[in-house]
Amino acid sequence: MKKSAMLKILVHHGRLANLDKPVILMLFIFLMITVTGEGVASQFGQMAKKVTVSGSVQIGKPVKIIVYGASGRVGSRIVREALDRGHSVTGIGRTPAKITQRHARLKIAQGNVLDTASVIKRIAGYDVVISAVGAPNSKSDDPMLSVPRQATVSLVKALRTLGAKAPRMMVIGGAITTLDLKRGVPYFRAKDIGTTTEINGITLTPSMIGHRLALDYLYASKNIKWTFIAPPMRLRPGKRTGKFRVGNGVVLRDKQGESAISMEDLAVAIINEIEAPKYLGRRMTAAY
Ligand SMILES: NC(=O)c1ccc[n+]([C@@H]2O[C@H](COP(=O)([O-])OP(=O)(O)OC[C@H]3O[C@@H](n4cnc5c(N)ncnc54)[C@H](OP(=O)(O)O)[C@@H]3O)[C@@H](O)[C@H]2O)c1
Repeated sequence: MKKSAMLKILVHHGRLANLDKPVILMLFIFLMITVTGEGVASQFGQMAKKVTVSGSVQIGKPVKIIVYGASGRVGSRIVREALDRGHSVTGIGRTPAKITQRHARLKIAQGNVLDTASVIKRIAGYDVVISAVGAPNSKSDDPMLSVPRQATVSLVKALRTLGAKAPRMMVIGGAITTLDLKRGVPYFRAKDIGTTTEINGITLTPSMIGHRLALDYLYASKNIKWTFIAPPMRLRPGKRTGKFRVGNGVVLRDKQGESAISMEDLAVAIINEIEAPKYLGRRMTAAY
C-alpha cells in the first residue's frame, strides 16, 4: 500500500476515534518503521543519513569537520568524501580562493595552521579537525622547524586550550612513519637527525623527518583526541574503490610488495575512521 493512502486511512480512522493530529502522526511514523522497515531518519530527510561504505550500510550521524589544506591533493579529496557522506565541512587555506569545490554544506575560510591563536578560534565547535597541510621542504634544515611538526604542535596547543570541548584531531603524515625497524620501534633514532640524511637507502628530507617528529609529539601529548594517518609509500590521485586494508600504522604491502593507495581511498579510510573510531590516540594506515 502507498504511504499516502496509509496516511489517509489513518487520518480518517483517527478522526473517527477522536485522536489529535500529533497522535495520528506518531501512529503513522510507528507504522512506517514496523511495516516498511525504514528508519525515522530516512523518512524525514536530514535528521540522520544512510551511509554506504564498501558495500555495507550504516546509519552515520553527520559531523562538523574542519580541514586545513582543503585545496591540496589529499585535503580536497577528504572534503569531497566527507560531503558525499553527509557531513558538514569547513575548508581552510592560507589562500582560500584555491579551494574550488562548492557545496551547500561546505564553508570556505582563510587560515594558517601555524597561527595557533587563530586556530583556537577557528576549530572551536567542530567535532573533528583534520590537518592535510602540505609539507614543502622548509627553509630551515632543522626538522623541528618543518611544517609537519610545527603544524602538529600548533594544533595540539589549540586543542589543549579548548580542553574538553576540543575536536578530535586527525593528522596526515608521511610514509616514512609506517617504517618501523621492528614493531613499535621508529625507523630512525631522533639522535641521528642532523648527522645523516640517508637511512637504508632512503634519502630523508627535513619534512619527512618532521612527520616522524610530529608523531612522536603526539605520542607524548596527553588528554587530547588524536589519530595520525600514516600513508603508504605510494599515495597518488586515482580511483575511489572503497576496497583496501586498514592497519595500525606499520607498512602494509600487497602480494607484489607494493605499498600503495589512491588519495580517494585514503579519504574513504579517514571518513570511515571518523564515523567509527578505532584508532584514537594511535597511528593508522590504509593500503591495498
Ligand atoms: N606517500 C606519502 O607519504 C605522501 C604522499 C603525498 C602526500 N603526503 C602528505 O599528505 C599531506 C598533504 O599533501 P598534499 O600533497 O595533499 O599537499 P598539497 O597538494 O601541496 O596541498 C597542500 C595544502 O596545504 C595548505 N597549506 C599549506 N600550508 C598551510 C598552512 N600553514 N596553513 C593552512 N594551510 C596550509 C595549502 O593551501 P594554502 O597554500 O592556500 O595554504 C594546500 O591546500 C602532507 O603532509 C604530505 O606530506 C604523503
